[in-house]
Amino acid sequence: MRLNSSVGAVALLFALIPALGAAEVLVFEDGMRLMRDKTCLGCHQVDRRRVGPAFVDIANRYAPDREVAIPMLVNSIRHGNRGKWSAIPMPAQPHVSEQEALDMTLFILSLQQKPD
Ligand code: HEC
Repeated sequence: MRLNSSVGAVALLFALIPALGAAEVLVFEDGMRLMRDKTCLGCHQVDRRRVGPAFVDIANRYAPDREVAIPMLVNSIRHGNRGKWSAIPMPAQPHVSEQEALDMTLFILSLQQKPD
């Protein structure tokens, strides 16, 4: 973990460690079903920008620093976020539990495209 992580992110990461230990990354079909059921796909696609950024672009941006990214993205998904990708904000998703947001985060990060 990098020393310059914000204290809030570090605290949340420690809170998530038990869940991370048990976490398994969803296979593609299961990940996409969860995204569809939780209406993420109205705004996101896997490999193309829609209202929000493509999941692949999110993975490419954050996967290299995943210890910092995981708690940050769980928070972004549940509480919404703005100003990181474009002027369009993402609204909070109160119907998504913390465990579901963690599953979604690990799934998105697994979509990172490795450079050839
Ligand atoms: C109403 C449209 C909309 C919906 C529904 C939506 N998103 Fe987003 N999402 C966005 C937009 C727009 C952004 C970019 C916001 C920004 O620029 O910071 C975004 C950004 C993100 C990010 C990147 C956050 C960051 O910190 O960089 C993740 C991860 C994400 N969305 C996941 C999800 C998931 C998972 C769901 C379903 C629970 C979901 N989104 C539902 C529009 C949406």
